Amino acid sequence: MKVGIVGAGQVGSSAAYAMALMGVGTEIVLIDRDADLAEAQAQDIAHAIPFAEPVIVRAAGYDSLTEAAVVIIAAGVSQKPGESRLDLLDRNVAVFREVVGSVMTHAPDAILLVASNPVDVMTFATWKLSGLAAERVVGSGTILDTARFRSLLGAHLGIAPQSVHAYVLGEHGDSEVSIWSSATAGNVPITSFADQVGRPLGPEIREEIGQNVRDAAYTIIAGKGATYYGIGAGLARIVRAILDDEKAVFSVSVTMPEICGFSEVALSLPRIVGKDGAIADLMPALDEGEREALTASAKVISDLSTSLTF
Ligand code: LAC
Repeated sequence: MKVGIVGAGQVGSSAAYAMALMGVGTEIVLIDRDADLAEAQAQDIAHAIPFAEPVIVRAAGYDSLTEAAVVIIAAGVSQKPGESRLDLLDRNVAVFREVVGSVMTHAPDAILLVASNPVDVMTFATWKLSGLAAERVVGSGTILDTARFRSLLGAHLGIAPQSVHAYVLGEHGDSEVSIWSSATAGNVPITSFADQVGRPLGPEIREEIGQNVRDAAYTIIAGKGATYYGIGAGLARIVRAILDDEKAVFSVSVTMPEICGFSEVALSLPRIVGKDGAIADLMPALDEGEREALTASAKVISDLSTSLTF
């Protein structure tokens, strides 16, 4: 199946590269206002195909999005050292006002997968601009933060991150919430598991892990100027779940009518991802601190979303 990617920069091209290596989709169309960049990225990734899966990768215009099953939108500017994700809002909304219209003209039936930051507000903006049902406008949200959380917990506990079942919810940003109260390793509550393997998760280490998840992007950006491999793989994984109608559960962002007392807010909860997009706003059991933090996260996103006009 065809997948479009608007924005052939580091994130969009990394998503295309990850999809090629993972064998996700049969055709990847890269679109960018810099046609030379899109062409160069497509050619470079196409040269990896002989070592990977048979996927067609090409650069083209919006008219080539016809019948795309999914369109990733990774257009706009990304964080620079010293910038927060929220600092990018005005510039990226201006880009999206043009991009979303072009996508809808040629791929009105596609699931839209938003990657540009601040991804939750950009998911809300894309929902408004596209007129699609909310579940068909999916933001990558905290899928990467959840992966970081699981990776750090796995390292602490000495187990595979795949055996850690823990989520980061809310904003993909500084107000995100690491959910400890329902976290497990295998089917064992995470703090009990930690005690049993002699790697206790006391308050200090929990705070350290949560902060390291929140700071991961800033740390990587300080070192190499941007993040793109983690988010690229996360986007490819979401696309696979959509194309294969996996009904897999991921923490992704979708605009909800109401959450924590705020209207029309896009934030990440565990959701069922398949051919129809991301459905079911699944609310896990939260302790009082987690619910307060999720409410604060919803407020951050709501304040910015309500500042936009469409
Ligand atoms: C990060 C970017 C994708 O967290 O927001 O790496």
